[in-house]
Amino acid sequence: MESTAAASHLSLGDRDIDRAGHLLIQFLKDYERAIPTSAAILPTLNRSQLEELRRTPFKRAGTGIEAIFKEIQDKIVPNSTTVAHPRFLAYVLGPPNGIAPFAEAVAAALNQNCNFWQLSPAANVIEQKVIAWLSDLFDYPAAAGGIITSGGSMATLTALRAALCDKCPADLRETGLQSRSAPLVLYTSTEAHDSVEKAATLLGLGSNQVRKIPVDDDFQMRVDVLRAAIRADREAGKQPFCVVASAGTINTGAVDPIAELASLCREEDLWLHVDGAYGALFVLAARTRETLRLCGLADSIVLDPHKLLFAPLEAGCLIVRDRVKLRHAFGGISSYLPADRDPLLMNFMEYGPQLSRGFKAFKIWCALEVFGVDAFARAADPCWRWRVISKRDFKLRMLLSYWHQSI
Ligand SMILES: Cc1ncc(COP(=O)(O)O)c(C=O)c1O
Repeated sequence: MESTAAASHLSLGDRDIDRAGHLLIQFLKDYERAIPTSAAILPTLNRSQLEELRRTPFKRAGTGIEAIFKEIQDKIVPNSTTVAHPRFLAYVLGPPNGIAPFAEAVAAALNQNCNFWQLSPAANVIEQKVIAWLSDLFDYPAAAGGIITSGGSMATLTALRAALCDKCPADLRETGLQSRSAPLVLYTSTEAHDSVEKAATLLGLGSNQVRKIPVDDDFQMRVDVLRAAIRADREAGKQPFCVVASAGTINTGAVDPIAELASLCREEDLWLHVDGAYGALFVLAARTRETLRLCGLADSIVLDPHKLLFAPLEAGCLIVRDRVKLRHAFGGISSYLPADRDPLLMNFMEYGPQLSRGFKAFKIWCALEVFGVDAFARAADPCWRWRVISKRDFKLRMLLSYWHQSI
């Protein structure tokens, strides 16, 4: 191909591939080995190095492979947070699993565009398989579907768009929100992650239409207050359309009363979305399986494989009970994309806002294949000890986290 020939000097020859491979393996081994003993959790910032990294202009002619690995070792690593450190506890950010760097390398080499299936048939079924596995964890029906996203925030944005399209009587695609006289209202708790309000503002709902329902002493959304708020909004001529519950709040790990919320949403004809970015994947752990499986009562669930599945950033996921509703929100007809229908394959561009999409599902699939499902259940189980059940415990945990970082 002409473009390949034009860029052939951007390829590596056999010797350079061997050299880069060797340096990469050496880097991975040294980095892993240093973590528990010599690596700092938070870097002591070397300001002059950072300034140099920022200011040094790119050279007209490259410096080659050896030099770039030296730069990584000398300047990037010492100024990076060691998220895989055993005492890195204050944030919900997991160490990447061991096969992840290799999976990322293969995904980059294949460079599949996961928009429509003709461009990426194997990637397509792998993404479907990962989504089906995640959906099964919550007993979602065969009609379920979803999409791998960059993270929980994008997944919630995607879910709320689907909720809007499902609950708005007019065709939202044509009329938008501008023509509506009754403001649409969304409910979540005071403990919900900021990504919920951010998604609502991005979708043009306005933060005034996001009701933050108070929580009880266990940080769970008060269903009685929610019920009253929905009634008051209807009486004021507004249109409630969605409740966002949390399965693992960012501050305390609290799980909202999903079953009660699901039944209220059914009564009120509201979309129930669960933000399970932090906690829903504790469905893998034996002690919490039954509690978290209830997330499957919702219309949609956000999961973050880059948290509890130890995938490297970025890997979020949205699963929906009925994939047709997701397609209704995002599907469209294009004159220049020859997207055929095939019962085995899907056009993921019709299930989310992106057209060009990378092969993020690959790193999740690879880890599940290499380590097996049980390994992830075993990894999730002890993590749950950080689940906190009261305001007193929460303060204690925050103190502990920061103390661990400083010793
Ligand atoms: C409960 C909760 N929801 C949403 C998010 C946002 O997810 P992401 O950072 O993957 O966009 C987070 C991230 O920590 C979270 O803990």
